[in-house]
Amino acid sequence: MSNDRIKGMKSLTIVSPDDMHLHVRDGASLPYVVPHSSRQFSRAIIMPNLVPPVTQVKQAIAYQQRILAAVPPGLNFLPLMALYLTETTPVSEVINAANHPDIIGFKLYPAGATTHSGAGVNSLNRIYPLFEAMQEHQVPLLCHGEVTDKDIDVFDRERVFIEQELIPIRRTFPDLRIILEHITTREAVDFILGNNENTAATITAHHLMYNRNAMFKGGIKPHLYCLPLLKRNIHQQALIRAAISGDSRFFLGTDSAPHSKSRKEQSCGCAGCYTAHAALALYVEVFEDNNALDKLEGFASKHGAAFYGLQQNQSTLTLVRKPWTCPDHYEFNNDSLIPIAASEQLNWQVEHTQQSN
Ligand code: NCD
Ligand code: ZN
Repeated sequence: MSNDRIKGMKSLTIVSPDDMHLHVRDGASLPYVVPHSSRQFSRAIIMPNLVPPVTQVKQAIAYQQRILAAVPPGLNFLPLMALYLTETTPVSEVINAANHPDIIGFKLYPAGATTHSGAGVNSLNRIYPLFEAMQEHQVPLLCHGEVTDKDIDVFDRERVFIEQELIPIRRTFPDLRIILEHITTREAVDFILGNNENTAATITAHHLMYNRNAMFKGGIKPHLYCLPLLKRNIHQQALIRAAISGDSRFFLGTDSAPHSKSRKEQSCGCAGCYTAHAALALYVEVFEDNNALDKLEGFASKHGAAFYGLQQNQSTLTLVRKPWTCPDHYEFNNDSLIPIAASEQLNWQVEHTQQSN
C-alpha cells in the first residue's frame, strides 16, 4: 500500500497487535488496567518488577493466572511473562524458563535504575554466567538500558549503558537475543542498526509523541515523568524514523506503567506514564503524522512476534478515525490514574475487539 493511497484513510485493519513491554501491577490494581490492554492487544509481555520481584517460573505462572482473571469475558489476551534477573538467579531457572512456552525471557534491571529495581543487578560482570546460559538455551535478555552511577547525567544514562555494558555483552554473546527496552536516544537506534539480527528494541508511544520540553511546558508535568526520561527533539526524531522505517528490529512496547495520582503528584513523584488506555490511538497518530500508516502493522503486530519466535496472531483489529476525548482520569484502586493525553482529543479508536486467536 502506498502512503498516498492511505493518506486521509478512515479505517485501518491490521493483524492483531502485541504489546511487547507492559506493567500491570498486581492484586486490586489488575481489574483497572488489564481491560485496557486486552481490548487492543492479543498478547503482552508483562514486566516482573513487582514487590517482591517475579524471579521464578512458578511465581510468573501464578501471576499470569491472576492477570488472566482480570481479562473481561469474551476477549482473548495472553500475558507472556518476563522473569526478573538477579545476581542470585540460578542457571536451573534459566533452563526452567527455556522449557516454558509462556516465559518469554529475563528482564535485567540495573539496581536502582527505575521503579522497583532495588532487587536488580549491581554488577553485570557477576551475571555473565547467566548470559552464557541464556545464550545456550535461547532465552532472550530484555534490558532496562541505563547506568545508575550518580555522577552520570540522567539524560546520558542510556548512552553510557550502551557504551559501557551493552557493547561488551553483545560482543561476548553474539547469539544471545537482546531487546533494548523503551529506547530513548539516537545512540540506541544506531546501536540496534549497527548490530546483528539478534538485537532489537521496543519503542513507547510517549517517547515518539514527546520530547523533554513537554515535561516542563508551563510547569512541571509529573505524568510525563518516566524512565528512561524523555530526551531532546533530535532523539525523538531518531525514534520516529526507526519506528516508521519498516526495519523489523524495532517494535511496539508501550511501557505503560500505572501509578496512582497521589504517588505521581507529590514532592518525590514516581516514574511511569500510563498509556494502555489508548495505546494504539497514540501510536497510529504518530504514524499518520509521519505519513507512514502502512508501516504500523509491521511495527505493532509482526516484528515483535517474529523476533521472539512467536506465531503471528490470526485475528485482525480495525482502527477507525472517529475523534473522541480521552478521559481526564480513570479509577484506580481508591485513587485515580491520570492517563497520557488526559482530556485531549484523539482521532482514532479501536473499532472491533479481536476475535478468537
Ligand atoms: C516503570 C514502572 O513504573 O514500573 N516506570 C517507568 O518509568 N517506565 C519501570 C520501567 O519500565 O522503567
Ligand atoms: Zn517498563
